[in-house]
Amino acid sequence: MFDLIAPRYDLLNRLTSLGMDQPWRRATVRALKLSPGSRALDLATGTADLALMILRKHTQTSVVGLDPSSGMLAIGERKVRRAGLDGQICLIEGDAQDLPFPDHSFDALTMAFGIRNVPDRGKALAEMARVTRSRGRIGILELTWPEGSLLAPLARLHVRYIVPTLGAILSRGAQYNYLRESISAFPRPEEFGRLIESSGLDLLSITPFAMGACCLFVASPR
Ligand SMILES: C[S@@+](CC[C@H](N)C(=O)[O-])C[C@H]1O[C@@H](n2cnc3c(N)ncnc32)[C@H](O)[C@@H]1O
Repeated sequence: MFDLIAPRYDLLNRLTSLGMDQPWRRATVRALKLSPGSRALDLATGTADLALMILRKHTQTSVVGLDPSSGMLAIGERKVRRAGLDGQICLIEGDAQDLPFPDHSFDALTMAFGIRNVPDRGKALAEMARVTRSRGRIGILELTWPEGSLLAPLARLHVRYIVPTLGAILSRGAQYNYLRESISAFPRPEEFGRLIESSGLDLLSITPFAMGACCLFVASPR
Protein backbone atom coordinates (compact mmCIF):
# COMPACT_ATOMS: atom_id res chain seq x y z
CA MET A 1 0.00 0.00 0.00
CA PHE A 2 2.77 2.47 0.91
CA ASP A 3 4.60 1.71 -2.35
CA LEU A 4 1.42 2.73 -4.19
CA ILE A 5 0.92 6.04 -2.41
CA ALA A 6 4.64 6.93 -2.12
CA PRO A 7 4.78 9.48 -4.99
CA ARG A 8 1.98 11.56 -3.42
CA TYR A 9 2.63 10.74 0.22
CA ASP A 10 4.23 14.04 1.31
CA LEU A 11 1.54 16.17 -0.34
CA LEU A 12 -1.22 13.98 1.15
CA ASN A 13 0.40 14.25 4.56
CA ARG A 14 0.48 18.06 4.49
CA LEU A 15 -3.11 18.33 3.20
CA THR A 16 -4.78 15.71 5.41
CA SER A 17 -3.06 17.02 8.55
CA LEU A 18 -3.83 20.64 7.56
CA GLY A 19 -0.11 21.40 7.65
CA MET A 20 0.28 20.23 11.26
CA ASP A 21 2.40 17.13 10.57
CA GLN A 22 5.69 19.07 10.41
CA PRO A 23 5.16 20.93 13.74
CA TRP A 24 4.28 17.54 15.31
CA ARG A 25 7.53 16.06 13.94
CA ARG A 26 9.45 19.09 15.29
CA ALA A 27 8.00 18.45 18.76
CA THR A 28 9.19 14.83 18.46
CA VAL A 29 12.73 15.94 17.58
CA ARG A 30 12.77 18.37 20.54
CA ALA A 31 11.77 15.56 22.91
CA LEU A 32 14.87 13.53 21.98
CA LYS A 33 17.33 15.92 23.65
CA LEU A 34 20.10 14.99 21.19
CA SER A 35 23.68 16.16 21.60
CA PRO A 36 26.55 16.37 19.03
CA GLY A 37 27.74 12.92 18.01
CA SER A 38 24.41 11.23 18.84
CA ARG A 39 23.19 8.40 16.62
CA ALA A 40 19.42 8.14 16.05
CA LEU A 41 17.20 5.48 14.51
CA ASP A 42 14.00 6.54 12.70
CA LEU A 43 11.65 3.56 12.33
CA ALA A 44 8.99 3.58 9.59
CA THR A 45 11.02 6.45 8.12
CA GLY A 46 8.97 6.44 4.88
CA THR A 47 10.06 9.40 2.76
CA ALA A 48 12.54 10.45 5.49
CA ASP A 49 10.85 13.68 6.63
CA LEU A 50 11.64 13.06 10.30
CA ALA A 51 15.16 11.75 9.62
CA LEU A 52 15.91 14.93 7.64
CA MET A 53 14.39 17.10 10.35
CA ILE A 54 16.64 15.52 13.01
CA LEU A 55 19.74 16.35 10.96
CA ARG A 56 18.66 19.88 10.10
CA LYS A 57 18.15 20.65 13.78
CA HIS A 58 21.16 18.66 15.05
CA THR A 59 23.77 18.94 12.31
CA GLN A 60 26.43 16.91 14.13
CA THR A 61 24.39 13.72 14.51
CA SER A 62 23.75 10.74 12.23
CA VAL A 63 20.49 8.93 11.47
CA VAL A 64 19.55 5.48 10.25
CA GLY A 65 16.06 5.35 8.69
CA LEU A 66 14.35 1.96 8.39
CA ASP A 67 11.18 1.05 6.46
CA PRO A 68 9.84 -2.03 4.63
CA SER A 69 8.54 -0.01 1.65
CA SER A 70 11.12 0.36 -1.14
CA GLY A 71 8.83 2.89 -2.87
CA MET A 72 8.78 5.19 0.17
CA LEU A 73 12.55 4.79 0.68
CA ALA A 74 13.28 5.65 -2.99
CA ILE A 75 11.56 9.03 -2.51
CA GLY A 76 13.40 9.43 0.80
CA GLU A 77 16.77 8.73 -0.89
CA ARG A 78 16.08 11.45 -3.47
CA LYS A 79 15.25 13.97 -0.72
CA VAL A 80 18.36 13.04 1.27
CA ARG A 81 20.62 13.47 -1.81
CA ARG A 82 18.98 16.79 -2.70
CA ALA A 83 19.65 17.99 0.86
CA GLY A 84 23.30 16.91 0.53
CA LEU A 85 22.93 14.76 3.65
CA ASP A 86 23.71 11.30 2.22
CA GLY A 87 26.86 11.13 4.35
CA GLN A 88 24.83 11.38 7.55
CA ILE A 89 21.61 9.50 6.76
CA CYS A 90 21.51 5.84 5.85
CA LEU A 91 18.14 4.42 4.71
CA ILE A 92 17.59 0.67 4.86
CA GLU A 93 14.73 -1.76 4.24
CA GLY A 94 13.53 -3.56 7.34
CA ASP A 95 10.76 -4.36 9.80
CA ALA A 96 10.36 -2.63 13.18
CA GLN A 97 9.47 -6.00 14.74
CA ASP A 98 12.88 -7.52 13.97
CA LEU A 99 15.65 -4.91 13.95
CA PRO A 100 19.04 -5.78 12.41
CA PHE A 101 21.04 -3.88 15.07
CA PRO A 102 22.97 -4.90 18.20
CA ASP A 103 21.66 -4.06 21.68
CA HIS A 104 21.95 -0.42 22.86
CA SER A 105 23.31 0.80 19.51
CA PHE A 106 21.36 4.10 19.30
CA ASP A 107 21.20 7.17 21.54
CA ALA A 108 17.65 7.99 20.45
CA LEU A 109 14.83 6.49 18.43
CA THR A 110 11.77 7.87 16.66
CA MET A 111 8.75 6.43 14.91
CA ALA A 112 6.22 8.81 13.32
CA PHE A 113 2.84 7.54 12.12
CA GLY A 114 4.28 4.04 11.88
CA ILE A 115 3.44 1.98 14.99
CA ARG A 116 -0.25 1.90 13.94
CA ASN A 117 0.75 -0.19 10.90
CA VAL A 118 2.77 -2.78 12.81
CA PRO A 119 0.93 -6.07 13.47
CA ASP A 120 2.77 -6.95 16.72
CA ARG A 121 3.25 -3.59 18.46
CA GLY A 122 4.54 -5.19 21.67
CA LYS A 123 7.33 -6.84 19.69
CA ALA A 124 8.27 -3.55 17.99
CA LEU A 125 8.32 -1.74 21.37
CA ALA A 126 10.53 -4.48 22.86
CA GLU A 127 12.90 -4.05 19.90
CA MET A 128 12.98 -0.29 20.54
CA ALA A 129 13.88 -0.97 24.18
CA ARG A 130 16.62 -3.37 23.08
CA VAL A 131 18.41 -1.18 20.51
CA THR A 132 18.24 2.13 22.43
CA ARG A 133 20.85 2.86 25.09
CA SER A 134 19.79 3.11 28.71
CA ARG A 135 18.03 6.44 29.34
CA GLY A 136 18.08 7.30 25.62
CA ARG A 137 14.88 8.98 24.44
CA ILE A 138 12.26 7.30 22.29
CA GLY A 139 9.64 9.51 20.59
CA ILE A 140 6.60 7.79 19.10
CA LEU A 141 4.23 10.06 17.20
CA GLU A 142 0.90 8.56 16.21
CA LEU A 143 -2.55 9.53 14.97
CA THR A 144 -5.15 8.74 17.61
CA TRP A 145 -8.93 8.80 17.69
CA PRO A 146 -9.89 12.37 18.76
CA GLU A 147 -11.71 12.29 22.10
CA GLY A 148 -12.02 14.20 25.33
CA SER A 149 -12.24 17.81 24.13
CA LEU A 150 -15.24 19.96 23.17
CA LEU A 151 -14.02 20.21 19.59
CA ALA A 152 -13.14 16.51 19.25
CA PRO A 153 -16.32 15.81 17.19
CA LEU A 154 -15.03 18.27 14.57
CA ALA A 155 -11.71 16.45 14.42
CA ARG A 156 -13.59 13.12 14.13
CA LEU A 157 -15.57 14.48 11.14
CA HIS A 158 -12.26 15.44 9.54
CA VAL A 159 -10.80 11.93 10.03
CA ARG A 160 -14.03 10.14 9.02
CA TYR A 161 -14.91 12.05 5.85
CA ILE A 162 -12.38 14.65 4.73
CA VAL A 163 -9.19 12.56 5.03
CA PRO A 164 -10.45 9.56 2.99
CA THR A 165 -12.00 11.83 0.35
CA LEU A 166 -8.85 13.92 -0.10
CA GLY A 167 -6.78 10.74 -0.06
CA ALA A 168 -8.94 9.01 -2.68
CA ILE A 169 -8.80 12.04 -4.99
CA LEU A 170 -5.07 12.65 -4.73
CA SER A 171 -3.85 9.06 -4.59
CA ARG A 172 -6.47 7.92 -7.14
CA GLY A 173 -7.41 4.98 -4.94
CA ALA A 174 -9.26 3.89 -1.85
CA GLN A 175 -6.13 3.36 0.29
CA TYR A 176 -6.99 6.29 2.52
CA ASN A 177 -10.01 4.46 3.97
CA TYR A 178 -7.28 2.42 5.62
CA LEU A 179 -6.13 5.54 7.46
CA ARG A 180 -9.56 6.15 9.04
CA GLU A 181 -9.97 2.47 9.93
CA SER A 182 -6.49 2.07 11.38
CA ILE A 183 -6.84 5.23 13.49
CA SER A 184 -10.11 4.09 15.04
CA ALA A 185 -8.65 0.59 15.64
CA PHE A 186 -5.51 1.98 17.35
CA PRO A 187 -5.61 1.74 21.17
CA ARG A 188 -6.63 4.84 23.14
CA PRO A 189 -3.52 6.80 24.33
CA GLU A 190 -3.66 5.54 27.95
CA GLU A 191 -3.96 1.95 26.74
CA PHE A 192 -1.01 2.36 24.35
CA GLY A 193 0.90 3.96 27.25
CA ARG A 194 0.32 0.76 29.26
CA LEU A 195 1.65 -1.34 26.37
CA ILE A 196 4.78 0.87 26.30
CA GLU A 197 5.26 0.30 30.05
CA SER A 198 4.84 -3.45 29.70
CA SER A 199 7.48 -3.61 26.94
CA GLY A 200 10.53 -2.73 29.04
CA LEU A 201 10.18 1.05 28.67
CA ASP A 202 9.41 3.86 31.12
CA LEU A 203 6.69 6.11 29.77
CA LEU A 204 7.84 9.72 30.38
CA SER A 205 4.95 11.67 28.83
CA ILE A 206 1.95 11.61 26.50
CA THR A 207 1.30 14.93 24.71
CA PRO A 208 -1.91 15.27 22.70
CA PHE A 209 -2.08 17.61 19.67
CA ALA A 210 -5.04 18.88 17.64
CA MET A 211 -7.89 17.87 19.95
CA GLY A 212 -6.34 14.45 20.47
CA ALA A 213 -6.02 13.66 16.75
CA CYS A 214 -2.31 12.98 17.30
CA CYS A 215 -0.24 12.06 20.35
CA LEU A 216 3.47 12.13 21.11
CA PHE A 217 4.56 9.32 23.46
CA VAL A 218 8.01 9.82 24.98
CA ALA A 219 9.66 6.83 26.64
CA SER A 220 13.05 5.58 27.73
CA PRO A 221 14.49 2.06 28.24
CA ARG A 222 14.52 0.95 31.89
C1 LIG B 1 2.30 6.86 7.38
S1 LIG B 1 3.92 6.38 6.90
C2 LIG B 1 4.95 7.33 7.96
C3 LIG B 1 6.23 7.75 7.30
C4 LIG B 1 7.11 8.73 8.07
N1 LIG B 1 7.52 8.22 9.37
C5 LIG B 1 6.50 10.08 8.24
O1 LIG B 1 6.67 10.70 9.29
O2 LIG B 1 5.86 10.56 7.28
C6 LIG B 1 3.98 4.79 7.63
C7 LIG B 1 5.21 4.01 7.27
O3 LIG B 1 5.23 2.82 8.08
C8 LIG B 1 5.89 1.84 7.32
N2 LIG B 1 5.68 0.51 7.92
C9 LIG B 1 4.64 -0.33 7.74
N3 LIG B 1 4.84 -1.48 8.43
C10 LIG B 1 6.04 -1.36 9.06
C11 LIG B 1 6.82 -2.22 9.88
N4 LIG B 1 6.39 -3.45 10.23
N5 LIG B 1 8.02 -1.77 10.34
C12 LIG B 1 8.47 -0.54 10.01
N6 LIG B 1 7.77 0.32 9.22
C13 LIG B 1 6.58 -0.09 8.74
C14 LIG B 1 5.31 2.01 5.94
O4 LIG B 1 6.06 1.39 4.92
C15 LIG B 1 5.25 3.55 5.82
O5 LIG B 1 6.38 4.06 5.17
